[in-house]
Amino acid sequence: MPSPLQGKYIVLGVTGSIAAYKAVDLASKLTQAGARVDTVLTDAATRFVAPITFQSVTGRPAYTDADLWGAQAHVLHVGLGRQADLLVIAPISAQTIAKLAHGLADNLLTLATLAAECLILLAPAMDGGMYAHTATQENLRVLRDRGAIVVGPEEGHLASGLKARGRMTEPVDILGHVRYHVSRGGPLAGQRVVVTAGGTQEPIDPVRYIANRSSGKQGYALAQAALDAGADVVLVTAPTALPTPAGAEWVDVRTAAEMADAVLQACGQADALLMAAAVADFRPAQAAAHKLKKAGGAPTLPLEPTTDILAAVARQRQETGHPRVVVGFAAETQDLLTNARAKLHDKGLDLIVANDVSADDAGFAVDTNRVTLLSADGSIEALPLLSKMEVAEEVIERVIAQLDSSNVKRQTSL
Ligand code: CTP
Repeated sequence: MPSPLQGKYIVLGVTGSIAAYKAVDLASKLTQAGARVDTVLTDAATRFVAPITFQSVTGRPAYTDADLWGAQAHVLHVGLGRQADLLVIAPISAQTIAKLAHGLADNLLTLATLAAECLILLAPAMDGGMYAHTATQENLRVLRDRGAIVVGPEEGHLASGLKARGRMTEPVDILGHVRYHVSRGGPLAGQRVVVTAGGTQEPIDPVRYIANRSSGKQGYALAQAALDAGADVVLVTAPTALPTPAGAEWVDVRTAAEMADAVLQACGQADALLMAAAVADFRPAQAAAHKLKKAGGAPTLPLEPTTDILAAVARQRQETGHPRVVVGFAAETQDLLTNARAKLHDKGLDLIVANDVSADDAGFAVDTNRVTLLSADGSIEALPLLSKMEVAEEVIERVIAQLDSSNVKRQTSL
């Protein structure tokens, strides 16, 4: 599955703000993700960054108001906005926000925006007082009501020396929002996909817990791949060090019991569940209310079993019919296929992703994985060593196929 930005035509508007220098990084990231990026700078933007800087990172034109009066002007001002898959203005100043809210079209960027037929994404950047001003807030509300997506601004250090809300959202995060919005029409559009990730933590006392080595990387990659395919994603996540993919609804949990509650609730209406989390099988029967002291001697820790979440999902599924497709994961250190096949059957799964976590290049913490996919229909596919994102894309492709065939079954039984 190619990146959802592959081949997309993005017009990047840049206005007069010191954050214009960060727009170069955004242009570069969009280009590296496979998009064709044409830049349009206002006069004020050119005071901060030269058009040639954008041309150099995108390999494509960077237009200024000089082009508004050039030979191609008659097609350019309408064509940019009409042909774009997405118009991103980052940074957008208070001035340009005000112009757009009032439909003014006095330079190439505002003209192109007024003519645009695509989704418009705005990343404001300005001084805290200008952002908080009622005029700016009302103008942004008008633009939101008309369908524009407003990303940020964030709170932080501003060029004025103040610490306030007004900093442009970081390019990597704007890229995440762009990625989310360009992929909405994908094969999983309108489908609700629940993904679990990370390793649960079972408290021993207020400062200690039983955990496992899961980093959450494979689960987060699955959430991203489902978003890229257009799904509405709910990410139920145990603590990880990873950023949440833009556009995912997420639920933070810590223990297996919290994850069970969150998953069962999210699965009520879900089309698919991808259970990538490493869930503790046992927890301390009684977490101590206060920190266990060394002087008390080595404690004995009686354990009790946690809920098997997939088993609970299978029971709920029999009553509700949701999720239509359930994918489990089997992390094994021996007898990989035998154990995975048993889990596929016992947990009522449609697909299980089996990996040998004792290998150096697969499993916990590393960025690669070597998995075998076993389906309920008996098929087995051993995939080569892949990045966790590639594994995620392979799994999502199978989920798309299984959801399609479950649709066909539903329709023929109507
Ligand atoms: N799983 C679950 N609830 C649990 C434990 C695991 O839903 N309490 C899910 C995992 O998220 C995974 C699948 O079950 O998708 C298999 O997990 P794994 O740890 O490999 O298997 P277990 O069922 O825990 O069996 P064992 O530890 O004996 O291998």
